[in-house]
Amino acid sequence: MAGVLGARDQAERDRLFELSLDMLCVAGFDGYFKQVNPAWSRTLGWSEAELLAFSWKDLVHPDDRRASREAGKALFAGMPSVCFENRHRCKDGSYRWLSWNAYPVVADQTIFAVVRDITAQKLTEQHRIELETRLRESQRLEALGTLAGGIAHDFNNILATVLGNTTLAMEGIAPDHPAMERLRHINKAGLRAGDLVRQILAFSKNFSPELSRHSLKRIVESAVSAMRPDLPAGIALELLLCEEHVHVMADPQHLHQVVVNLCSNAVQSMQGLPGKVEVGVERLDIDAAAERPAGLPAGEYARVWVADSGCGMDESLLGRIFEPFFTTRAVGQGVGLGLSAVHGVVSSHGGAVSADSTPGLGSTFHVYLPLADSMPHAEQAPHASDAARSEVQHVLYVDDDETVMILMDALLKRAGYRVTCHSDPHAAVSAVRREPQSFDLIITDFNMPALTGLGLAADVARIRADLPVVIHSGHISDSVRTEAARLGVRGVVNKGGSFDELGAVVQRILASQ
Ligand SMILES: Nc1ncnc2c1ncn2[C@@H]1O[C@H](COP(=O)(O)OP(=O)(O)O)[C@@H](O)[C@H]1O
Ligand SMILES: [Mg+2]
Repeated sequence: MAGVLGARDQAERDRLFELSLDMLCVAGFDGYFKQVNPAWSRTLGWSEAELLAFSWKDLVHPDDRRASREAGKALFAGMPSVCFENRHRCKDGSYRWLSWNAYPVVADQTIFAVVRDITAQKLTEQHRIELETRLRESQRLEALGTLAGGIAHDFNNILATVLGNTTLAMEGIAPDHPAMERLRHINKAGLRAGDLVRQILAFSKNFSPELSRHSLKRIVESAVSAMRPDLPAGIALELLLCEEHVHVMADPQHLHQVVVNLCSNAVQSMQGLPGKVEVGVERLDIDAAAERPAGLPAGEYARVWVADSGCGMDESLLGRIFEPFFTTRAVGQGVGLGLSAVHGVVSSHGGAVSADSTPGLGSTFHVYLPLADSMPHAEQAPHASDAARSEVQHVLYVDDDETVMILMDALLKRAGYRVTCHSDPHAAVSAVRREPQSFDLIITDFNMPALTGLGLAADVARIRADLPVVIHSGHISDSVRTEAARLGVRGVVNKGGSFDELGAVVQRILASQ
């Protein structure tokens, strides 16, 4: 630091130069440093000699060069003081944000600058912007979910009427009646519509699955195995599981669907060409200080990723993919509900989903779920069903005919009950075995090939004798009545009658409990 200073002043200045926490420098108009203080090496990791050998272009981030050049031009032109920001490359390859306050001495073709590392501030700011964007995004998705969920709910009731009446009409005519074929078509279309409604409800606001502890690796593995048989030729599907245990609080069926939806998209992204899909599971520590993916709170997470070498997506597409009914596929190839369901399911598990993509190169979807081990009290937490129980009574409806099941589901819900349906009587018995106290009443069809309604009543009685069972059947013979009475079945109701009849029996039994 030359000039007209005495030796003592000079030494004091040098000492300040050495001690400064901010980076101080003298640089030439040629873009090379003449002097740097030790703060530079501390911040960027380069030695003083290395720094002096670099031109500014070797260090400044390519995206910041234009702005830095503009600042330089202003200084060369004699602007007394110029403030600007740019990123500098560190020795370890990372970049740090620097804030410059520079002034020139044009006659000497020299710039003096005080430079501060503002990386931490920048990260905080970036984090805040990301959080805000995500919040807006999730509010928008929530609003759409509420809307779609509301429509789906009404739609379910309409569908129940269509399907219920079709079933009754089919029962009322001879099998060779000319209308039979058309009724079957109506029935099939109605069932497909029911499927769609179920998917819509999966991401609607009120969706809250019952979670229990499961191995995520096993769920992902089974979903990937389910994908394999239908994999088009030329597409390699690779599974990468970490060594450690990965347990999450999950609804396995829904998570299975998440993986299947992501894999189907990945396969579709190949557009008929050969390619590779990689599915992986790993454990991940999200540190409060470091960059937090998807704006998640710090903690221990599981990450599932699905990466493809497909067509990729541009920014504007990426911004819309989680919206319900957003699709770029041809009619009949997709309805745009896959990723909305993924978003809904993952959110209901306390996790988050994000995607990154490069057009032409491929995409990667990341699903983050909190590890079950990091939630020590989760298993003792009151079960969702306990809370619901105190408010509404829980009816289990069992019928192997899905049409009737959908109809009864809608009618019982309309009557104010919480309803769980099973088309497989054995699955229904398992549900009771898992949580005997969760149900208040069972209604079962009689004529089911896997297990009759009476068989089911007997099984249930062995698990919980005081759980009332009602048989709902199209054909009630005297022997059924006798056997039902012997097993302690509380009611036998004819399916052909109106719902009011069944409703009255259910209400009477529940009132007497
Ligand atoms: N892996 C992927 N690669 C490229 N585009 C994708 C990928 N996953 C999803 N997309 C885009 O997101 C859209 C929405 O996906 P999704 O919600 O699953 O509905 P659908 O598959 O029925 O279109 C797709 O139409 C597609 O444009
Ligand atoms: Mg899809």
